[in-house]
Amino acid sequence: VSAAKGDYKHFMQKEIFEQPRALTDVLRGRIDLDHGAVLLDELTFRHQELRQLERIYAIGCGTAWHAALVAKFAIEALARLRVEVDYGSEFRYRDPLIGERAAVLAITQSGETVDTLAAMEEARRQNAKSIAIVNAVGSQAARLADGGAIYLHAGPEIGVASTKAFTTMLVASYMLALRLGAVRGVLSADEVRRYIQALIELPGKVERILERQSIYEELAERYHGARDALYLGRQVNYPIALEGALKLKEISYIHAEGYPAGEMKHGPIALIDRDLPVVCIAIRDSVYEKMISNIEQVRARGGHVIAIAAEGDTLMASKADYVIEVPPTLPLLTPVLTSIPMQLIAYHMAVHRGCDVDQPRNLAKSVTVE
Ligand code: AGP
Repeated sequence: VSAAKGDYKHFMQKEIFEQPRALTDVLRGRIDLDHGAVLLDELTFRHQELRQLERIYAIGCGTAWHAALVAKFAIEALARLRVEVDYGSEFRYRDPLIGERAAVLAITQSGETVDTLAAMEEARRQNAKSIAIVNAVGSQAARLADGGAIYLHAGPEIGVASTKAFTTMLVASYMLALRLGAVRGVLSADEVRRYIQALIELPGKVERILERQSIYEELAERYHGARDALYLGRQVNYPIALEGALKLKEISYIHAEGYPAGEMKHGPIALIDRDLPVVCIAIRDSVYEKMISNIEQVRARGGHVIAIAAEGDTLMASKADYVIEVPPTLPLLTPVLTSIPMQLIAYHMAVHRGCDVDQPRNLAKSVTVE
């Protein structure tokens, strides 16, 4: 097994560093830059059916549920199609009204998560098709997906904490949103082309983030004794705050919560004291100014701010205790880049605390029983 890790200490670390390759592979054969088109031939829907869709239920568990939250932003923004997000474990128990012109979008790395599969079965019972965004080839989810299985082509993910599967799930969701947006006449070929170009540039930008490692060791050295941590994001980066908190909990056993930053004053602000690290996703987007004021509120109460910021944001250096820079991209696509520091913070904290990063206690890679 150790041979398979190559030069890496853990599978999780290897899988984090495989992301530039995985993000390239998920795009391969599915995009046509010249014509401004996303192909996704695996979808079995007729054009007419895609045009008539009125709703998508995006479903997943854990990290895949966070990908579903991002998919909602992407599909609603690019295809103007309503998306509801559900946990696999909740969907069938709320007696969902799926309706005829709806489809289920099941997102799952393993393709074997029992609750996600049950949601697909519920769709079938109600005569709605399901699409799977799935990594494991030939898995149950891939077979159940009568609307088509979009494979991630991320390669095997061994670490229990999902990393490369998550970022490729995001890219698969963007491609689906672009395809829907084009078919439904919401996006022009030029607009699709702009997104395709930005998607093509993501692997190189992830590579750039991965080149800067020393900050994470510094953070682990400084905060490995923390009891709690707070993660704040807004808009499309709110799911990434949730994902950052989940990663930290899973592998370092530090209690962490993700929050939409605007909700902070409705409760979590009471947690802030001199011992609390607060990871804030504060890139230059439409909510940047608001994030700055959230950061000031944290600092005013003695909290420590670790900001994920845009490259060259000099203002942030004066506002935060630590700044981790990410390259610019289109606002909707930023989660692919902001996810990388989330993974690395959790990884280095866990290693510093001597935790079993690849096999955290009590957790299974895929949850195949209820
Ligand atoms: C991710 O880090 C977790 N280990 C977990 O939340 C996982 O994403 C979830 O169990 C869903 O798994 P799946 O993608 O294989 O369906």
